[in-house]
Amino acid sequence: MMNDDPQQIGLDWFRAAVPYIAAHRDRTVVIAIAGEAALDTEFPALLRDIAQLRALGSRVVLVHGARPQIEARLHERGLTPRYAEGLRVTDADALEAVCDAIGRLRVRIEGLLTRTLGGPGKAGARLRVAGGNFVIARPMGVRNGIDFQYTGEVRRVDAAGILRQLDDGQIVLLSPLGYSPTGEVFNLSGEDVATQVAAAVKADKLVFLTEAGPLRDPDQHTLAQLTVPAAEKLLAGGQDLPQELASHLRSAVEVCTVHDLRVHLVDRHIDGGLLIELFSRRGIGTLVSREPLERLRGATLDDVGGILDLIQPLESEGILIRRTREHLELEIDCFQVLDADGLIIGTAGLYTFPETGAAEIACLALHPDYRGGGRGDQLLEHMEALALRRGHRQVFVLTTRTAQWFQERGYHPGSVNDLPAARQTLYNQARNSRIFVKQLA
Ligand SMILES: CC(C)(COP(=O)(O)OP(=O)(O)OC[C@H]1O[C@@H](n2cnc3c(N)ncnc32)[C@H](O)[C@@H]1OP(=O)(O)O)[C@@H](O)C(=O)NCCC(=O)NCCS
Repeated sequence: MMNDDPQQIGLDWFRAAVPYIAAHRDRTVVIAIAGEAALDTEFPALLRDIAQLRALGSRVVLVHGARPQIEARLHERGLTPRYAEGLRVTDADALEAVCDAIGRLRVRIEGLLTRTLGGPGKAGARLRVAGGNFVIARPMGVRNGIDFQYTGEVRRVDAAGILRQLDDGQIVLLSPLGYSPTGEVFNLSGEDVATQVAAAVKADKLVFLTEAGPLRDPDQHTLAQLTVPAAEKLLAGGQDLPQELASHLRSAVEVCTVHDLRVHLVDRHIDGGLLIELFSRRGIGTLVSREPLERLRGATLDDVGGILDLIQPLESEGILIRRTREHLELEIDCFQVLDADGLIIGTAGLYTFPETGAAEIACLALHPDYRGGGRGDQLLEHMEALALRRGHRQVFVLTTRTAQWFQERGYHPGSVNDLPAARQTLYNQARNSRIFVKQLA
């Protein structure tokens, strides 16, 4: 029955988000926002979401841009902004305007972050923001005859310094400024700072909160996921991508190639977009990663908690037999898991009976959110291939409710006599599971 009580909807959303919240705890997220976001009346709400991410246990580095704010300061001073190759040319006068604009914006962001989770008696009042000379810059120099003067690029990042602040629970706020070892100040691009910092601190995620809408394929469908080769193909395809998105995509390719992290492009105009992207299955933006996000792999002891979360509801329903944590820890080498970006969404066990040439596929389960997409088939085929590789010509399953599903996949009804002797003694008559057998090619 559908329940449209707002409280229930909120509760359902929260319950569904819990595994994602747990998966992000102690993970480092670098978030980049353009200066345009700060002009929006929704800016405090965006910063509140970022502060909430920290409150939920993520380690947060926030990098802000300041292009419109710098432009406004230049105009106030009667200076005309100069650009070449898409970059600002910063002379000594312009640098004054840059420092002024960035200083003011920074103070505003710090104020808003202090306010967002604060208030009497709220734990968020302890949320602290750190900043400093963590980015070492070098001048862009003269390019195609144009001297960019105080426009620079990232030369080095003091990753250890940033990590110390994160270890201390602070949000690290970085501005598009860098310092040369001789103490000169350079105006940098916020995107460059965010990308280099994400690589230097080995972040788990880099999130670009974008001004342009979502990234779409030529058929106008939102692109939810892209591997690096797919992103490169998109960039090379000459498709009419908004300049901002193309630039973020190039940064994503660059950083994913040197460091295996996830890059998210999220439309910052969507209320709560950042939280939806990180804490829900479908997300809302585009995720770029080096490898496809889901992979089948052998389970390790670190996966025991995730496997238990997955199978315990099915055990309560009587679909799977009960396994204790200790039991699972002892048998962990028998298990395979389907890992979706750190979340265990599927599992299965393979128990072998060497003297008979047969193996049992057991505890096959998928998270309910991920069923019906062919992953069950994928997992079953993987287990069969594993059995074959280990020299077994026959596999069997015991099931109470999934008989049809296995029959549709080439399994034939069997009896207790078809089970290896060692398994026959363990057969639970009271449970009365049905037995299905398949010969492997
Ligand atoms: C069985 C299970 C692994 C299948 O995963 P899945 O990703 O949904 O499977 P696929 O996408 O490959 O196949 C989906 C098809 O199987 C059908 N199906 C799912 N569960 C079924 C069941 N118990 N009995 C019969 N058919 C079933 C679906 O209706 C769907 O059919 P359709 O394509 O005609 O609509 C998954 O449903 C699950 O985890 N179930 C609970 C645990 C379980 O029963 N495990 C087996 C223990 S022995």
